[in-house]
Formats: sequence, structure tokens, C-alpha cells
Amino acid sequence: MTEKILVADGVSAWGVEILQQEYEVVERPQLTAEELAATIGDYVAIVVRSATRLTADVLAKATRLRVIGRAGVGVDNIDIPAATKRGIVVLNAPNGNTNAATEHALALMLALARRIPEADASLRAGRWERAHLVGLELKGRTLGVLGLGRIGTGVALRAQAFGMDVIAYDPFLTAERAAQLGVRKGTLAEVLAAADFLTLHLPLTDDTRGLINRQTIAAMKDGVRIINAARGACIVVDDLVEALRSGKVAGAALDVFPTEPLAADSPLTTLPQVVLTPHLGASTVEAQEGVAVDVARGILQALRGEVVPAALNVAPIAPELMPILTPYFPLARALGNLAVGLAQEPIRMLTVEYTGELVAPDTRAVTTTAVQGLLNPILQEQVNQVNAAALAAERGIEVREVKSARLGAYHQALAVEITTAEQTHRLVGVLTDGEPYVVEIDAYDIRFAPRGQLLLVPHDDCPGMIGKIGTALGEAGVNIRSMQVGQTAKAGKNIMAIGVDRTVTPALRRTLEAIAGVDAVSVISGEGRI
Ligand code: NAD
Ligand code: MLT
Repeated sequence: MTEKILVADGVSAWGVEILQQEYEVVERPQLTAEELAATIGDYVAIVVRSATRLTADVLAKATRLRVIGRAGVGVDNIDIPAATKRGIVVLNAPNGNTNAATEHALALMLALARRIPEADASLRAGRWERAHLVGLELKGRTLGVLGLGRIGTGVALRAQAFGMDVIAYDPFLTAERAAQLGVRKGTLAEVLAAADFLTLHLPLTDDTRGLINRQTIAAMKDGVRIINAARGACIVVDDLVEALRSGKVAGAALDVFPTEPLAADSPLTTLPQVVLTPHLGASTVEAQEGVAVDVARGILQALRGEVVPAALNVAPIAPELMPILTPYFPLARALGNLAVGLAQEPIRMLTVEYTGELVAPDTRAVTTTAVQGLLNPILQEQVNQVNAAALAAERGIEVREVKSARLGAYHQALAVEITTAEQTHRLVGVLTDGEPYVVEIDAYDIRFAPRGQLLLVPHDDCPGMIGKIGTALGEAGVNIRSMQVGQTAKAGKNIMAIGVDRTVTPALRRTLEAIAGVDAVSVISGEGRI
């Protein structure tokens, strides 16, 4: 079946064309939730804006889906934990519409201050009401900004050019950054109390839902004007309507609503001091091209298995770290894979230990790859960089990272250790000319390239062991590709790492284990999906 991408909300043709270079693209805007659930199983990627809701129920039907691309910033319409659990990359296009939304917030503030929609409607109705339609100036007034991220910052800087004093509340804003922007940093209460105009640039989260309500409005100045081009549900609309009717809030300019489209009979539409636009913040030609192109490129990168900077549920890798970390991915996956083969009971902890050039960098992506190697052979579901950590946690496996000055004899190596209730197994690997090699298994020194099907066979160090094992494999029609014998300080013990060209059946494994002098046989599947 051809791999297809669904464009579920209207996006610019520029983005669609990029996707069409590699995939069949189906554009079906305005699908109902039922239609979406019925069809999503056909697609490997989906492009949405804010209208399409990707709930856990819908995602449960998305059996082929590998990527969700949000052409825009807000991802409150996507159940990210559900997508993560299913190994689906979620990415957005956070920068493409920043300027458009910034300018729209300013347009709303100016329209509100100078009563432009009201004046326009009055003139069209044949009236000339200069005395009635008096506005007020921004200069000298205080702008309160809630959320000083990309758009909040853009609005704050432009408001300063209008001569406004800007005070902002953002729990993640440092005093240095505020000073650099010429913005006063305030608490929520301070911002509410100081603002003549209050503008929201918050994400919709549990903390920000309903943030503007009867209580917070009571803490504002009488005659405050409120602008919201962020997310509608940050404001309790009934409380705002009540405050507009009483005059506590002199005006509001809203681009976003808790339920979209806004109902035609919403009380907001009856209030002349309210300016309304239908979620147009990002609706400029430039922004729509920008987000569509960004999201299309991100989707293709993710489908190719490349690192996607805009991915929201994958550990990020700084571009300068890519050449350092990339060669360690196959090694980490192989060590995880070997470790699970050695475990004879449920794994409680996985520790990935780094030394040398891996001590300083953020190595979470390598650790996640070791988790992938560990879980892939034992789980039916696809394990990837997105869901590996969540799946490990779900199975009660604690994942730890340790940075060490050296690993035994090695200054430049990676170790994977697993702990079960009764046992600990430790494997050390190195890169030689960029190729992964296993150099230690538990107490044994060994050296082999971890490729394909492998058998690990600890055994007594006595004559004839290689012959007996080789004969048993040969009689079962299994060809030996490679064989290395490890050494240990433990008297009388050895380990064989045997590369084989055929699957070792449970019956053959039992035959091998029954050979006198063989301690155990671990069959390593060599499965290593990325
Ligand atoms: P951003 O992530 O750059 O900024 C959000 C800021 O809010 C961050 O600085 C964060 O620290 C801050 N924040 C988070 N929780 C907070 C809290 N509880 N209290 C105060 N501050 C908090 O996002 P952005 O690109 O600036 O977008 C802001 C909002 O605008 C988002 O909701 C986005 O979806 C929306 N948006 C709307 C349109 C539109 O068409 N109307 C277009 C683009 C973006
Ligand atoms: C966003 O979060 O990017 C905006 O709400 C714009 C959009 O919905 O496209």
C-alpha cells in the first residue's frame, strides 16, 4: 500500500507541494471526528491546524501513523501523551506565525483603543458620530503581558515603540531577560493591578485554563481593556461578559474562543465594546506559507528517521552534537539488545554509563536508544525514540545515566548494566573506526561485533567445549558465522560469543544447555529497529 499523508486542516499549497515530492497527499479539511477516526488508519502522517482534534480515541485508530505535524504553535488539540505512547512523533512550526500573531494582537489593541470596528459599522450605517466615538491613546499607558514568549515579546517590544510601559508575568522569565527587553517583571497580581491594557500570550495548560475569571478580573484596574490572541479557554467568557456589562472591563478584543467557531448567539457579539476576529492571528500569506513549509519539512525529516528540531516528544539533539552522538546509537542499541538477552527475569533498572567524549554532552538520545534495544525484542509494539522512555516506565524499569572518568580499562566507552531482583549484567562497548564492538560481558573480556543472531554461552574452561557446541549447532543445520572466546579472572570459566546464520529454536537451545560444562545459553535476536 502506498504511504499517504493526510492534510486535515487547510494549509498553504507550498507545504502540500513539499510533501507531494515524496508521498501521496490527501487533502480533506473539515472531517468530522467520526470521519477522521474512520480514515486515519490509512495514513503515515497527518497535518493539522487548530480545528482537528487528535484525541486518544482517534489516535487508537491511527495504526500506521508515525508523525503528527501541527502547522502552527498551539498543540492543545493533540493528546501528546497518547501519541507518545504510540511512538508517534509530534512536531509543530513554532516560528512561522510569530510575527503574524504579534501584529494581530497589536491590531486588536489599536482597534479597541480607537474603536475602529464600531466606527466602521456606524459610518456604513449612514451616521457621522465623531463626538461619540472618542478613543484613547496607548502612549503613557501600561501594557500587562501574560506570557513573555515569542509573541508576548514581540508585542512588548512594539508596544514600547508606542510609548507604553510594559510589565510582564511569566514564571519562566529571568530578571536579566526582562531587563534586556526593557520590561518590568511582575507577579501575576502586580501585572493585573497595573495594566490599562492586558494582553494574553499563554499556552493553554492546566495552569492557564480559566486564568482570567471573576476573581482575577476583580484584581484588575477599573476600565481595563483585555486582548486575547492566544487561546480562548484562558478566559472564562461568562465572567468576562459580566465584567464588560458592569463596566469593570471597558473593552475586549478577542481572536480566540473556548469553542470555535464562536456561536452566532454568543453574548460577546451583542457588546459594542468588544472587537471580534475569527482566529485570524496566523492568517497572513507569509505566516501560512511559513508554517506549512516548516511543518512539511519536519514531517519528511521525521518519516526519514532523522532528528527533527521541532519535535515536541523526542529528546532534542543539538546540531553540533550530532557527529559525536550518532556513531554511538548502534552501539547503545546493541548493548541494550544483548543485555535483555542475558536477563532471565524482569529487569528493574537499566543504567547507561558514559565516559570520555560522552561525559559532557546531553546523552539522553543515546540512553533512549539503549532502552529501545532492550525493549524491542520483548514488546510487540513499535519501540522508538518517542515512546521508549514511557514504555520502560510503564514496565517498572528505572532508567539511569551515569558519567564516569573511565570504564575499567577504557577511557572512551559505553556501558549498559541491567539489574533484576537477583542478578546484575554489565556490558561494555567501544567504537573502533566508528564500528561498534562489545569488549566486556560481566566478568569476561571479549571482543566481537554485535551483528545479527548471536549466542552467548558461558561455560567451563576445559578442552573440547568449542567442538561440542559447534557439533550440536552443525547437526541442527545452523552455520557458525563467527566465534569469539572471552576470558575472565574467574578460574575455570569462559564465554563464547557465537554469530549464527539461522534462528536458534528453543529446542536447540535446550540441547546446547544440556552439554556438560555449559552454564547457560542466551539467544540474542539482533533485532534493532530504529
Ligand atoms: P511561547 O511558547 O513562545 O510563549 C508562551 C510563554 O508563556 C512562555 O514564555 C511561557 O514561559 C509562558 N507561560 C507558560 N505558562 C505560563 C503561566 N502559567 N503563566 C504565565 N506565563 C506562562 O508561545 P508563543 O509562540 O508566543 O504563542 C503564545 C500563544 O499564542 C500560544 O497559545 C499559541 O498557541 C497562540 N497563538 C495563537 C495564534 C492565533 O492565531 N491567534 C497564532 C500563533 C500562536
Ligand atoms: C497557532 O497556535 O499557531 C494558532 O492558533 C494558529 C493556527 O491555528 O493555525
